[in-house]
Amino acid sequence: MSALALEHQAVNLGQGFPDFDCDPRLLDGVTRAMQAGHNQYPPMAGIPALRQAVASKIEALHARQYDANAEITITAGATQAILTAILACVQPGDEVIVLEPCYDSYVPNIELAGGVVVRVPLTPGSFRPDFAKISAAITPRTRLLIINSPHNPSATVWSEQDMRQLDELLAPTNVLLISDEVYEHMVFDGAEHQSAARFAGLAARAFIVSSFGKTFHVTGWKVGTVAAPAAMTAELRKVHQFNVFTVNTPMQHGLAEYLQDPAPYLQLSAFYQAKRDLFRLGLEGSRLRLLPSTGSYFQCVDISAVSDLGEADFCQWLTREIGVAAIPLSAFYGDGFDQRVVRFCFAKKDETLREAIARLRRL
Ligand SMILES: Cc1ncc(COP(=O)(O)O)c(C=O)c1O
Repeated sequence: MSALALEHQAVNLGQGFPDFDCDPRLLDGVTRAMQAGHNQYPPMAGIPALRQAVASKIEALHARQYDANAEITITAGATQAILTAILACVQPGDEVIVLEPCYDSYVPNIELAGGVVVRVPLTPGSFRPDFAKISAAITPRTRLLIINSPHNPSATVWSEQDMRQLDELLAPTNVLLISDEVYEHMVFDGAEHQSAARFAGLAARAFIVSSFGKTFHVTGWKVGTVAAPAAMTAELRKVHQFNVFTVNTPMQHGLAEYLQDPAPYLQLSAFYQAKRDLFRLGLEGSRLRLLPSTGSYFQCVDISAVSDLGEADFCQWLTREIGVAAIPLSAFYGDGFDQRVVRFCFAKKDETLREAIARLRRL
């Protein structure tokens, strides 16, 4: 969709990345780190200052202590974190449950590990987890479950009650958890992010994954984190050591320093909520039906009042004829399930959003 957007000079609200730059203070920190000579291999698990900053942040926000030496690992983005966690615990024939629609790396990663993908749908329309269906999918061969809140692509957020239900459901099992929390600092309308770290039973079985790329508007830097109990981290690092070994040094120093001030990540929800509101208000006059967006930087819309096309064809048409790129939700399902819903990314400058709104209001 990005290539098509470029070809047709469309406003690209397809791929999920900001079109604005990060805080200059972060750039200064990284630049200073380079100039100070932090340009060689760092420790395999990440520099201690960054691991400590991550552990302190989790403790402050979720009241759980992770040992920075033994339980926090710095990765080359969340994508590598997820692959590494999967390769560390999934053996050929193990079953791994994914909740569809889901981020596109999960399924190929599971297949790469020789695992068997078990797809459980989130409830169409609301995208709520269906715990009866998740429970029915668990078998003695289930090794791992992957969850993601705030959720890409549906922009829904799991509540405290949802996490408690999951905790209860997994309690009698040995199922491990990957909790993909890359949008942890984008939760709207006063709600709080319910990290797996908040729930003892979940934290004890979870690789909790996050991404500085999402939090600090630097998706191209590819720096992420995994918090997991020591025994799980030990296994994760055995794979990490031989796939990336280390993550770039100056970025780690810059991020460690920048994390000393909590304001940038604590203000992120308000920052993106304002963009969500601008985008939603602008589309209110159009025939696109807005679905709720309670977290992440995505807004899904139902296209049925606008077009008879399927999602993928609609997105192509929208890019070519209206000049706005979006992503079909069917791309996040193994069987291409088409519910006439497409996803826009509002991590864009206000002027970019206003231009997209002007075009979309023609619909
Ligand atoms: C749900 C989800 N997980 C993981 C990632 C990957 O994050 P990173 O860029 O840090 O690899 C993304 C990026 O779009 C995502 O949406």
